[in-house]
Formats: sequence, structure tokens, C-alpha cells
Amino acid sequence: MPVDLILGSNNVGPNGKVKTIEDFSAILDLFHSHGNIHLDTAYLYPAGHPGQAETFLGDLQVTKDGKFILDTKVRSFEDGAHAADEICKSVEAQLKRLKVDKVHTLYLHAPDRTVSFEESHKAINELYKQGKFERFGISNYQPDEVLGFVERANKYGWVAPSCYEGLYNICSRRAETELLPIFREHNIAFYAYSPLASGFFSNIKRNEPPPAGGPFDPTTFNGQYNQGWFFKDALFTAVEELGKVGEEYGIPNNAIALRWLRHHSQLTDGDAILVGYSNIGQLKQNLEYLGQGPLPQQIVEVVDKIWDAIKDDAPEAAM
Ligand SMILES: NC(=O)c1ccc[n+]([C@@H]2O[C@H](COP(=O)([O-])OP(=O)(O)OC[C@H]3O[C@@H](n4cnc5c(N)ncnc54)[C@H](OP(=O)(O)O)[C@@H]3O)[C@@H](O)[C@H]2O)c1
Repeated sequence: MPVDLILGSNNVGPNGKVKTIEDFSAILDLFHSHGNIHLDTAYLYPAGHPGQAETFLGDLQVTKDGKFILDTKVRSFEDGAHAADEICKSVEAQLKRLKVDKVHTLYLHAPDRTVSFEESHKAINELYKQGKFERFGISNYQPDEVLGFVERANKYGWVAPSCYEGLYNICSRRAETELLPIFREHNIAFYAYSPLASGFFSNIKRNEPPPAGGPFDPTTFNGQYNQGWFFKDALFTAVEELGKVGEEYGIPNNAIALRWLRHHSQLTDGDAILVGYSNIGQLKQNLEYLGQGPLPQQIVEVVDKIWDAIKDDAPEAAM
């Protein structure tokens, strides 16, 4: 069975790139027409305009008649956001926007280290007992923090995390050694986000300013984060190398990145790729690439060689 696909939505909403509910509806139909039913969103999306993606998803009633399953993430990236009462407030508002009684997976989006993890985990467990979600997910946590959730779940009988969203692509593979052994031991599925490094493999050139309003725009929170992760000499060189071998075979960088993740990475049954896009054309192309088979062996070898050369400069596995 191939690795599952989950549709992302961090560009969705009137202030995102997919601005209208009609355009988003067409994107959902395209994704569904390829046999996919799993959606991902968050309180935060699109960045700077929380709630807009969830509002579209709720207005489209995406889970009606079991058409899609829907995951979301609680308000995060703000000190105090994971205090018990703040988590409850966040989830109440999110379910209302999504027009559902419960979601499939509820995530803590990123660590809030200003609140004890025990308090946050306990609040999550209370919501689980109330039936607000079926599976608990965590995202961007450090390896020892993941183990902390597993230990508390065992100690108190609380809901344990059963999936983790983390950065994983051809230039960001630290999860393989730092996180995956933990996931395998504790039955936590790994969902890889930013499979195209937010566009770094195709849209960014070493000596040119990144497109304004794009994922690397330094005037935005996300842009600063992405630049910190990817704007390194070694990573620019890696993308150039990849382009050269891809050209020999007529396979563009984005196709290499997606096909590698699906067929050659350490993702396996039960894991998933979070598919990104900022318009329907990009999604169509990405689904086409994802539907293609394994890569020629020489390309796989170059991808591994590139990783050996850049791993000290590559982004951390977690925040
Ligand atoms: N848990 C977390 O903290 C976390 C973090 C990040 C993402 N996620 C989830 O994972 C999903 C996917 O992540 P991502 O958006 O970073 O994925 P991604 O595919 O790595 O990046 C998406 C960006 O890449 C560019 N792109 C995508 N397809 C393209 C194509 N065919 N041709 C040219 N450029 C293309 C676009 O950039 P332009 O906008 O410049 O065109 C697009 O906005 C998100 O939607 C979100 O649901 C979760």
C-alpha cells in the first residue's frame, strides 16, 4: 500500500492564496477524485488570519456523509496558548467553525513551553473523554518531549499521541534518526509536512529575492522561519545538484522530491505526506507526480549523496 496523502490547507482563506470557497471546493474535488479523503487544517491557517481555513471547511461541510476525514490543530505559537482553559476555548471555537461535534485528529501544533506539558496533556485527555476527537496528534515536539507524552499516557491512562506532524523532505531528513525510532517503538504514525520545502526546490534562486507574499517572504513569520531553515549555501547547492541529475532524466526537482518521499523515504504504511499547493494547478501537478512510480536508481543515489553532504546544515527535525 502506498504512503497515504493528506491535503494541507495553510494557504486557504480570503487572506491566503486560495481566496474563495469556490476555488477551495474545486481543490477538494480534485483531491477526492484521486481517491483521497484525509484533510489537515489548523486554528492558525492561513498564517496571520486564524480561523479562515476552518471556516471554509465548515461552510463546505466536508465531513458530511463521510466524504472526508478532518484533522485540526489547537491554537499554538503563543505563550500560554496551551493552558487548560485556553485549549478548551480554542477547541470550542474550532468545532463551531468547522460545524462538527468532533474531529478525527486533534493536534497540539507546536510546543508551548510556558505551560507544563502535564497540564496541556490533561486538558487534551478531558476533551478526548468528552468525545471531541478520535486521535491525539502532536507536531514539532522534540524527541524527549514526545517520550514525555507517551510516559504520561502510560502513567495516568491518558490518551497517547498516535501521530506526529513533522518536517521531512529530501533536504530535511533529521527525523529519520532523531524521531522515527521513537515513532516506530510507540506506534506513532509520521505525517511529513513541507514535502517541497515550501517551494524551495522550485521557486527560490540563490541570488534572487524570494517572491513577495510567498512562503519565503521575510516580512512574514513563516517567511522568516523558512529562510532560517533553508537559506544556507549547502542547501542551495543541493538543489542545484538535484536539478542537474533531474535534467538528465527529464524529471523536475518537485517530482523527485515527491516521488522520493512516496517510494524511497522511510515513510511506510500508516504514514502520510501532507500535500501543499497555493493553487489548483500546483495541486494537479503534485498529484500527478505522486501518482508516478519509483525514481531511477541513479537519482535515488544522488539524493542520498546530497543528504550526506548537507545534513549538518539541514533544518532541525523539531522546533
Ligand atoms: N504541523 C506544522 O507545523 C505544519 C507546518 C507546515 C505545513 N503543515 C501542513 O502541511 C501542508 C503542506 O506543507 P507545505 O504547504 O509547507 O508544503 P510544500 O508542498 O512543501 O509547500 C507548498 C508551497 O510550495 C510551492 N509549491 C507547491 N506545489 C508546487 C508546484 N507544483 N510548483 C511550484 N511550486 C509549488 C508553493 O509555493 P508558492 O506559494 O510560492 O507558490 C506552495 O505554497 C500544509 O498545508 C499544512 O496543512 C503543517
